Amino acid sequence: MSLSFPVTANPRVAGDADYDAIMAAPGFGEHFSDHMAVAIWTKDAGWSEGRIQPYGPFLIDPATAVLHYAQEVFEGMKAYRHADDSIWLFRPEANAARLNASAARMMLPAIPAEDFLAAITELVRTDARWVPSGGGEQSLYLRPFMFASEVFLGVRASAHVTFSVIASPVGSYFPSGIEPVDIWVTDKWARAGIGGTGAAKCGGNYAASLIAQYEGYEHGCSQVLFIEAAGKDRIEELGGMNVFLVTSDGRLITPELTGTILEGVTRSSILTVAADLGLRPEERRISPEEFFSLIADGVAVEAFSCGTAAVLTPIGSFRTATDTYTLASPAGERTLAIRDRILDIQYGRVPDVHGWLHRVA
Ligand code: COI
Repeated sequence: MSLSFPVTANPRVAGDADYDAIMAAPGFGEHFSDHMAVAIWTKDAGWSEGRIQPYGPFLIDPATAVLHYAQEVFEGMKAYRHADDSIWLFRPEANAARLNASAARMMLPAIPAEDFLAAITELVRTDARWVPSGGGEQSLYLRPFMFASEVFLGVRASAHVTFSVIASPVGSYFPSGIEPVDIWVTDKWARAGIGGTGAAKCGGNYAASLIAQYEGYEHGCSQVLFIEAAGKDRIEELGGMNVFLVTSDGRLITPELTGTILEGVTRSSILTVAADLGLRPEERRISPEEFFSLIADGVAVEAFSCGTAAVLTPIGSFRTATDTYTLASPAGERTLAIRDRILDIQYGRVPDVHGWLHRVA
């Protein structure tokens, strides 16, 4: 039976002054809406207890399994307000499928796509005032997540799991907006290996990438690019985003999905939109030698990172311990054309020819 998400209204919603201040400058992931969605899974009863409740802390026992073994997965999505005030999600079924693929890898239960969508729809409808109407790139970032909530210290799959969705009004992920960012290429740290959790959106992958990201900060970079762990012979992805090169003759090159790379929803949308725009997508294995010589030889002239949070962020250079590879046309015309097309679809400014939008309010 499908879950329902009855609403318990928050008696202490944000007041007008706080709300106005937040919506005027939301930042990224700093402020949260008035409510959250929750559902519980147990080994014996399956999913139940769906609800929308006031946003607030979970009461977590110190022995809760997730705190010890990181059995957790999450998603990133956004709700967009269109010019006519309607509110839409972008490819939510892809997020439902990916959450369940991540959950399977981490021995967490699948949540039916209809229940996943019902939780998000009810939360967005309840907190519709938090979906920004400021235009630009503002949206309501949605963070569905699932964690092992059994109170037990043995290492086994949790018999009690909590699913939740929280919502955060956001602007650009990078404070610099669409200014090109510089990317550090780590040769010291790895993100994932074959058979590991690289393709799962689990918190541990992000925790493991932090040390390399901070190495990047020390070199004046905003993000880090990982190279395949064992043979160092394949470009993979950034700490939380996929990566693309654009060549002067219209090729759009991105590493193929190998099981160690996250299957980005924005990544796959870009591959489709780029073909619509007359570019030639190439998803393939790309060695670090080829990747950097394409830039050094002036063949690849643009590069960008992408993800739900970052949308499409132009890259200015890649820096290694010994070299800097600078893109000839950072934030070039093709990068911006793809970016604009994705945003135009998300904000309903062009026809949704691929059927990617899902109306919630
Ligand atoms: C997203 O793009 O939604 C992510 O989850 C990545 C993270 C860097 C915010």
